[in-house]
Amino acid sequence: MGHSTASFLLLSLLLLSGTSYLDTVTLGFCSADANVGCMDIERKALLKLREGLADPSDRLSSWVGVDCCKWRGIGCNKTTGRVDSLNLRNPYGDVSESDDGTLPALGGEINPSLIVLKDLVYLDLSMNNFGGLELPSFIGSLEKITYLNLSGASFGGVIPANLGNLSKLLHLDLSNNAVESDLRWLSSLSYLQFLNLGGANLTKAAPYWLPTVNMLPSLLELHLPGCGLSILPPTLPHINFTSLLVLDLSANGFNSTLSPWLFNLTELVNLDLSRNNLNGELPETLGSLTHLKNLDLSENSDIGGQLPRNLGMLCNLQSLKLSINKVTGEITEFIDSLSICTNSSLERLDLGFNRLTGNLPNSLGLLKKLRYLKLWSNSFQGSIPESIGNLTFLEEFYLARNKMGGVIPESFGQLSSLVAVDLSETTWEGVITEAHFLKLRSLKEVVIQQASQNISLVFNISSNWIPPFKLRYLILESCQLGPKFPAWLRNQTELVTVVLNNAKIADTIPDWFWQLDLLLDEINVAYNQLGGKLPNSLRFSYRGNADLSTNLFEGPLPLWSSNITTLYLRDNLFSGPIPSNIGDVMPSLLELDISRNGLSGSIPLSLGNLSLLTTMVLSNNYLSGEIPHFWNSIPNLYLLDMSNNSLSGTIPRSMDSLGSLLFLILSSNNLSGELPSLRNCTGMKSLDLGENKFFGNIPAWIGESMPSLLILRLSSNSFTGSIPSQLCGLSNLHILDLSQNNLSGHIPSCVGNLSGLKTSVFSDKDTSYLYQGKLKVVARRRVQDYGSTLYLVNSLDLSNNNLSGEMPRELTSLIKLWTLNLSMNHLTGVIPSRIGSMVGIESLDLSINQLSGSIPQSMVSLTFLSYLNLSYNKLSGKIPTGNQFNTLVPSVYEGNAGLCGFPLPDCQVNGGTPQGPSGGGEDTGFKMWGFIISMVIGFVMGFWGVCGSLVISKPWRKTYFHFTDKMIVACIRKYQGAQEI
Ligand SMILES: *[C@@H]1O[C@H](CO)[C@@H](O)[C@H](O)[C@H]1NC(C)=O
Ligand SMILES: *[C@@H]1O[C@H](CO)[C@@H](O)[C@H](O)[C@H]1NC(C)=O
Ligand SMILES: *[C@@H]1O[C@H](CO)[C@@H](O)[C@H](O)[C@H]1NC(C)=O
Repeated sequence: MGHSTASFLLLSLLLLSGTSYLDTVTLGFCSADANVGCMDIERKALLKLREGLADPSDRLSSWVGVDCCKWRGIGCNKTTGRVDSLNLRNPYGDVSESDDGTLPALGGEINPSLIVLKDLVYLDLSMNNFGGLELPSFIGSLEKITYLNLSGASFGGVIPANLGNLSKLLHLDLSNNAVESDLRWLSSLSYLQFLNLGGANLTKAAPYWLPTVNMLPSLLELHLPGCGLSILPPTLPHINFTSLLVLDLSANGFNSTLSPWLFNLTELVNLDLSRNNLNGELPETLGSLTHLKNLDLSENSDIGGQLPRNLGMLCNLQSLKLSINKVTGEITEFIDSLSICTNSSLERLDLGFNRLTGNLPNSLGLLKKLRYLKLWSNSFQGSIPESIGNLTFLEEFYLARNKMGGVIPESFGQLSSLVAVDLSETTWEGVITEAHFLKLRSLKEVVIQQASQNISLVFNISSNWIPPFKLRYLILESCQLGPKFPAWLRNQTELVTVVLNNAKIADTIPDWFWQLDLLLDEINVAYNQLGGKLPNSLRFSYRGNADLSTNLFEGPLPLWSSNITTLYLRDNLFSGPIPSNIGDVMPSLLELDISRNGLSGSIPLSLGNLSLLTTMVLSNNYLSGEIPHFWNSIPNLYLLDMSNNSLSGTIPRSMDSLGSLLFLILSSNNLSGELPSLRNCTGMKSLDLGENKFFGNIPAWIGESMPSLLILRLSSNSFTGSIPSQLCGLSNLHILDLSQNNLSGHIPSCVGNLSGLKTSVFSDKDTSYLYQGKLKVVARRRVQDYGSTLYLVNSLDLSNNNLSGEMPRELTSLIKLWTLNLSMNHLTGVIPSRIGSMVGIESLDLSINQLSGSIPQSMVSLTFLSYLNLSYNKLSGKIPTGNQFNTLVPSVYEGNAGLCGFPLPDCQVNGGTPQGPSGGGEDTGFKMWGFIISMVIGFVMGFWGVCGSLVISKPWRKTYFHFTDKMIVACIRKYQGAQEI
């Protein structure tokens, strides 16, 4: 130490002695000493470099003193004393702040003085933040460089072509920068062994990237993920980079088949083709025949002249990722072929999110080194092979969302390394016993969500069993765990997620569970028969979720820790008032659903403190008093449901500040007054104010300010005046219900503009937001499953008003209407002759009006019609025949003196007045009964007749709508009733 200090002093003296560039002198001096210091010119160059750099956390504080070789990040050649390596990699990597809160990334600019370091062989500036700075082209003059790493440093611009001068490069990593290139410079780097350009925009090189890369015969690792390459050439006549060990071409949007040449790379250890658009079958022939000699097939007498169709020649392969493509084909032979390798090295097999079929073969058990087996989201069938138990290194096993089923073999319990398993969205059967968990010491995550809510998998585990594992995530859905609360959770002190949904548990949650004092992300015990009172002690970590819906919990609502963000206590027996401090205790709540309980009292003002709230569902309780005025302070609310309570007073004006509101559901209360302006709620999709005491005109702003409205229900109020023509502008409307008011005037002829009633289903992606879907999502936990398949009824109900005039002919252009109810008005004139064009109609009620003329023959073409009521009009003439009309009963036509023909008595041949049930006087009583019955049926069937059959009768549904089993049919009008779908 002393010696070197002395020599530095000497050196400094020399340097200070006047001459500015003493290259030769210092070199001469230094070469005499094994411990030479750095050259002055290089030291100065480094100091210039430092000057240009922004170094907020002072990482370069050691860059002082004479011997730059001692500076942090600098390395020098011991013989020459010249700087040969510069490593300024940000040691904190991705973190933007180090532990002490400083910003460790270097920034600023890179001074060209760098080129003074002529002997530099190693340059690493990775993981810094140069804020879009162009990659400095002078790096191309550092000709001795063999290692260049500029990854993740926020460089931008075009990769300078003179990097092609770095002919000695072995390792080049420019990944994770916002750079682009045509790659033309690449072909001269013929010694290159490692190339990573991940994330660079190489779209310009797309047509010839492969021939270019093929000029690099020394390549061992090629990483080009997310480069926009888009073209994966199907053939490559001569492969130059035959030694390739690692090939990562993920996320390039290749829209082609799996190219066979990929599987000629027989040395491959790691192949990643995931997240492309690859299609076609898994390769039939893998690899070259030259490796056959390595396989011990010759002694296998079963293999005759013919080789197996699929040859697993990639025997060095440790990792194969093909996930998130559209690959088809059979898994069985593919796995068989992989397992041919006598000593398979395969550790990771990721085929998830493809379209593969077939059964998992028993040969799976031969892939003994497997650690990660991800096969989820394909179309595999059959069960898990018994041989699975041989995979004693298996850590992650994902089979979810296939078409598999059957019994889970007991050998599963042998997977002693298993950490995480996901067997969701499948229909497993049989009994799970302690044997299935026998050696699962490492298990942390278990997910078994049965595809159907019918319970076919039963856990039969003794109450004194002590599991060998400590789980963090336990997600069991639609598996029978009850009737007792599972006692084997007693030692599970590390649980973070507890989902025991629809588990047939009829018990109270035992005290020991609360005493585990878990810090939870999620608890979901919905759909059980759990009872008793809930303690307030449950603790949640940041963004905690709780769903205890549909149980028998009683007593006051529990108040849980302040981190909880979603709280679902719907459909229980909670009683008493909503705690007045609810909004203060759980201020992070985003979603609150306490509907369908026995809660009483008024809505506490502290709910207004939930400034993050998006969803507030208080429906189906006994809440009374007025709606509070705190809406200004909950700006993000998009779902507000307070229906089916006893709320009174008016809609507060402050609700107009709810600019995010999509669903406002206040039906079935005692609310009254005229509607205040809600003009700012411009995103509204569903406005349901039915069954209240609102009066005044239907405001025109509904039609003007809520263009996205899908559902408008104002039924059973006291609205007067005429139907504003502005409503016709609601082009997305699928359900319009203005029934049971005192509306007068004509039906506006612009109804024909309701284009939503001319399209059959909700086509736009917004359906995922539908409240109906929302409830569904809550019930089943998985948002992604319910994105797009929500179907709704198209319906128009103006019944029981004082509407007069004719049925506008334009009505008949609403060809996708399912339900039309105009009954109990004063409509006159004839039924439009083109009514037969409304071919979607299933329920048509025109009863109790003054419609005259004959029943249009075109109605025979309404073949979906399952409910028709034309009673109590002034219709006359012959009832049409054919299709449904041959099956209808007389009550359909009741009270129309002039109708004749089946099912009423035949028309008189001379065209005179027919005889019918309404003709006689003695059966008036019968007639009245008929009327009442048809009214009741009209009310019940008019809507639920249709929806009910959709919900209940699958064959019916299939026949008429060709819905697949998985599609969800929802009837919105009484959405509560549809929750059982
Ligand atoms: C140091 O430099 C000399 C001369 O250029 C070279 O031969 C030698 O390989 C270098 N040493 C190292 C460890 O790079
Ligand atoms: C990639 O670069 C091309 C032009 O070279 C440009 O058109 C394209 O938008 C870029 N792609 C991305 C994702 O930036
Ligand atoms: C293989 O690489 C060599 C050296 O870069 C090159 O000259 C040759 O053209 C390459 N062959 C093919 C078929 O690209």
